[in-house]
Amino acid sequence: MHDLLKQILEEVHPLIGQGTVAQYIPALARVAPDQLGIAVYGIDGQLFSAGEANMPFSIQSISKVFSLCQAIQHSGEDIWQRLGHEPSGQAFNSLVQLEFEKGRPRNPFINAGALVICDINESRFAAPTLSMRDFVRRLSGNPQIVADRVVAESEYQHRARNAAMAYLMQSFGNFHNDVETVLRSYFSHCALSMSCVDLAKAFCFLANDGFCKHSGEQVLSARQTQQVNSIMATSGLYDEAGNFAYRVGLPGKSGVGGGIVAVVPGQYTICVWSPELNAAGNSLAGMKALELLSERIGWSVF
Ligand code: DON
Repeated sequence: MHDLLKQILEEVHPLIGQGTVAQYIPALARVAPDQLGIAVYGIDGQLFSAGEANMPFSIQSISKVFSLCQAIQHSGEDIWQRLGHEPSGQAFNSLVQLEFEKGRPRNPFINAGALVICDINESRFAAPTLSMRDFVRRLSGNPQIVADRVVAESEYQHRARNAAMAYLMQSFGNFHNDVETVLRSYFSHCALSMSCVDLAKAFCFLANDGFCKHSGEQVLSARQTQQVNSIMATSGLYDEAGNFAYRVGLPGKSGVGGGIVAVVPGQYTICVWSPELNAAGNSLAGMKALELLSERIGWSVF
């Protein structure tokens, strides 16, 4: 596996230079584009990695999976009264559908849906930011994980679009807490810095019927785990979810920091990172690396 991962990184390396590092968050626009890492973690605890797999990066929308799991843990099925689990077919930060659909986001992985999930968690946790940080520390087994304050502040300063979504949902009665407070929590989750190894470990419960070995925690039930994986498979890469299913064939979640995590149910989690994105906001080299890996090992769930 080590050799295969190394070889795949060499194969996708020429793609660096063909994408663009996220520009709309100034603190992310400064990230060096020529970085590439991958980690594969087995439910039996085996770890394989290549490239810059231990370099922390901004997890961004990958945090939406952790927020959803916290919401399911603490609020259960009730959350689906506030949002759906349908693919949106729209960009992750689109406002158009939200107006048509009366402030009810399509799913928890577009920004509007993640903001509703953060609003739900804001009502449940005394300190949502700390609860999230501790949650990912436990899941990854890494007590050093922190949110990058410079990234979080940069996102807050450039919050116009996310704020517009949250206030629009408030106007439809689908937002219960102070918008600015929830935005702060949301940005702090997005600004968590984690490496490929951290993320592959932290997602492992999703490959293992909801059980996290490092923390000894049953994070979700086996059924809830299937449900989260199904939403990742249909909505984890926004309007490119179909392309990801076609090329990689696994439940996955991307972030504009250039990370993508994928789950091979019952076996492995994979995290790949390369900061340059394609037009849909997903890591260009990361998608290709996952496609090659899945194809060569035969991991597609389809
Ligand atoms: O709110 C935002 O726009 C970012 N903090 C997160 C967006 C993101 O990662 C979308 N992923 N591809």
